[in-house]
Amino acid sequence: MKKIGVLTSGGDSQGMNAAVYATVRCALSHGLTVYGIHDGYRGLIDGIVEELSAKSVEGIVNRGGTVLGTARCSEMKTPEGQQKAVDTLKKYGIEGLVVIGGDGSFQGAKVLSTNYGIKVIGIPGTIDNDLAYTDYTLGFDSAVAVVANNVTQLRDTMSCNKRSCVVEVMGRDCGDIAIFAALACGAEAVCVPEKNYDADALAETIRHNESVGKFDNIILVSEGLRSDGTLDKGHEAEKVMNDILKRLPEINIRSVVIGHLQRGGDATVFDRKLGVIMGAHAVKCLTEGKTDRVIGIKNDVVFDEDMLEALAKKKTFNEQVYNLTKSLVKY
Ligand code: ADP
Ligand code: F6P
Repeated sequence: MKKIGVLTSGGDSQGMNAAVYATVRCALSHGLTVYGIHDGYRGLIDGIVEELSAKSVEGIVNRGGTVLGTARCSEMKTPEGQQKAVDTLKKYGIEGLVVIGGDGSFQGAKVLSTNYGIKVIGIPGTIDNDLAYTDYTLGFDSAVAVVANNVTQLRDTMSCNKRSCVVEVMGRDCGDIAIFAALACGAEAVCVPEKNYDADALAETIRHNESVGKFDNIILVSEGLRSDGTLDKGHEAEKVMNDILKRLPEINIRSVVIGHLQRGGDATVFDRKLGVIMGAHAVKCLTEGKTDRVIGIKNDVVFDEDMLEALAKKKTFNEQVYNLTKSLVKY
């Protein structure tokens, strides 16, 4: 193999740049030519490709976002779009592709491999931490840090006003950001899609806390909670706040959506290291002729695993962390 490509796809996440950096530098040190494909599969279909040098990736290890750009591209799900993507790869002589993204991005990579013979390696880049085969995805640690820092700031104003706050965090259908951030900032309650939502119990916790003089209750809520029992997601912070107000009309409470701030700012040192190690491992896989592998980390060991097997795994909810969030904040 002489030429490889790298793209970032789906929701951006801190650590993607670190993975791009290591992919490029390691590939160059193996004597490979590396092409950066801009805007995920959109750029692959439209042929937005540039050769990358060591200089091209200088100073990006720490930076949030992705210097390659990203996109969600429905055309990649069509045979016509996939053919255009392959035409671009063939035009540049790209035989191996490193895809940095979530499970959707891996599905796209799988198609390129199975139907068109391109060698593909996936690096898990998503703040959601919703991939079962790996302990951590790139960006998760950074997103949790953003939430913890935001809640620290919120506490200042909530506590002096004797006011509670419902804080909505990202994570699509996965409560990991909420539960790990809850540990990191001592949230008084956490509501996640993996657990039944009980508005009465939540209101009772707040009522009890107020009765013992604890007024700045932070309630972390996942965006995918579906607290109203419908399939509609979104506005969860407001919905939960209204549920509490229905039960405790006198309560002083606000709601905040942290939103895309969670995907911004420098990557934590953890995500930088993970991105670099995973990028290096992806290049190693390609130089060994491997394909259809995804990179992961378990118990501090980085590994590669079959892409389909990894995608078939079902994520188990971290009950231990969830229970800890509850036992730490009993008043
Ligand atoms: P993530 O990679 O973070 O899960 P998405 O699910 O939005 O994000 O997927 C990112 C992109 O991957 C999509 O916009 C599309 O271009 C591509 N993709 C997703 N699913 C498929 C699929 N089944 N076949 C081909 N490409 C896909
Ligand atoms: O999948 C990553 C993620 O940040 C989710 O947590 C969130 O639901 C979604 O992307 C937001 O997507 P967009 O950037 O398209 O608004």
